[in-house]
Amino acid sequence: MTMSNTGQLMPSCVQLTDMLPVRYPVIQAPMLGVTTPAMVAAIANGGGLGSLPVGGLSPQKTAELIRLTREKTSRPFAVNLFTHAVNAPVDQAQLDAMQAFLKPVHEKLGIPFEHKSVADFSFYHYRDQLEVLLMEKVEIISFTFGILEPDVVELLKSRGCKLIGTATSVREAIMLDLLGVDAIVAQGFEAGGHRGSFLTDEALPQVGLMALLPQIAAAVSVPVIAAGGLYNDQTIKAAFTLGAAGVQLGSIFLACDESAASEVYKEAVISSGDTSTALTKAFSGRWARGIRNGFMEQMEQSGLEIPYYTYQNSLTSAMRTYGQQHNLRDYISLWAGQSAAHARRGKAGEIFLSLIEKLNF
Ligand SMILES: Cc1cc2nc3c(=O)[nH]c(=O)nc-3n(C[C@H](O)[C@H](O)[C@H](O)COP(=O)(O)O)c2cc1C
Repeated sequence: MTMSNTGQLMPSCVQLTDMLPVRYPVIQAPMLGVTTPAMVAAIANGGGLGSLPVGGLSPQKTAELIRLTREKTSRPFAVNLFTHAVNAPVDQAQLDAMQAFLKPVHEKLGIPFEHKSVADFSFYHYRDQLEVLLMEKVEIISFTFGILEPDVVELLKSRGCKLIGTATSVREAIMLDLLGVDAIVAQGFEAGGHRGSFLTDEALPQVGLMALLPQIAAAVSVPVIAAGGLYNDQTIKAAFTLGAAGVQLGSIFLACDESAASEVYKEAVISSGDTSTALTKAFSGRWARGIRNGFMEQMEQSGLEIPYYTYQNSLTSAMRTYGQQHNLRDYISLWAGQSAAHARRGKAGEIFLSLIEKLNF
């Protein structure tokens, strides 16, 4: 959709709502660790696209979450995957140095810490989840951190599955377009959580949504979904004006009733401001935007090289779980975007509907 000069939303060449089985081109962003089946179902039942995050989870857990969501809604929803390579080589000396840093942090909290060697790590690849996705006849798959391999694209498309990739630069968007995805999320620098960036031969793209969105929309042939910093009718209308066919909102749902975020996390989000967040690799080894806290600062000051994603994520997992359970603000990843202060308490469905009411769909 684009906006007419009377301020009405009007159909663009390719409508997202023609392609996806949803009433409104508004997507609840997948947020691993925060999004629950109840949140996804609330948005789906309200006529939007709910997204169930299953990135890096086991096939069993993936199946369980899909079924739990289906118990709460008969509407379609997207299932979200992480499509990075999981076996990137890692240096044992780097792991040892990081563990020497993390051990006293764990001791201070009274959590057991077991030293790990490279061979002790094992991770799920999205291919491990494919059988479940096919068995469960998932209709929409969104993905981030990379591209699906072409044989998987062919397989999923042959089963009628719609595919939505994530881009943080025009180059990434063109790659996704050439791969044959049905829509592309343009993730601006404002966005909360991990950057979806996947072209490692260039510096991390740091393009704000206002610059990124129209440039991606001009460069690709498929509908573009805007993500990053959107939270009300004005910001959403601005995205449509800049060429979006749909919008994806995450942070606004962080503090809702159906969010799995701990109370201390919800409070931090609501009391955040425009400058509260920063990009960090401290928790996971992959660049992500979150509210600054003690662990982020301690890690920055250490000057240590942070092992690549999934290794570092795994090394900090026990600490983050403990922090979440005990409301320890300084030991959890407070993923949130630059407009996270606009996150709202209350039911996800009501937050969603109050947005929709102000848009002229
Ligand atoms: C807590 C949190 C977790 C996230 N997890 C995922 C995820 O699992 N998969 C994904 O594609 N994007 C994830 N994202 C990014 C969102 O898809 C989206 O780009 C972002 O929320 C949009 O910006 P906003 O938070 O300003 O609305 C996450 C974002 C947050 C805040």
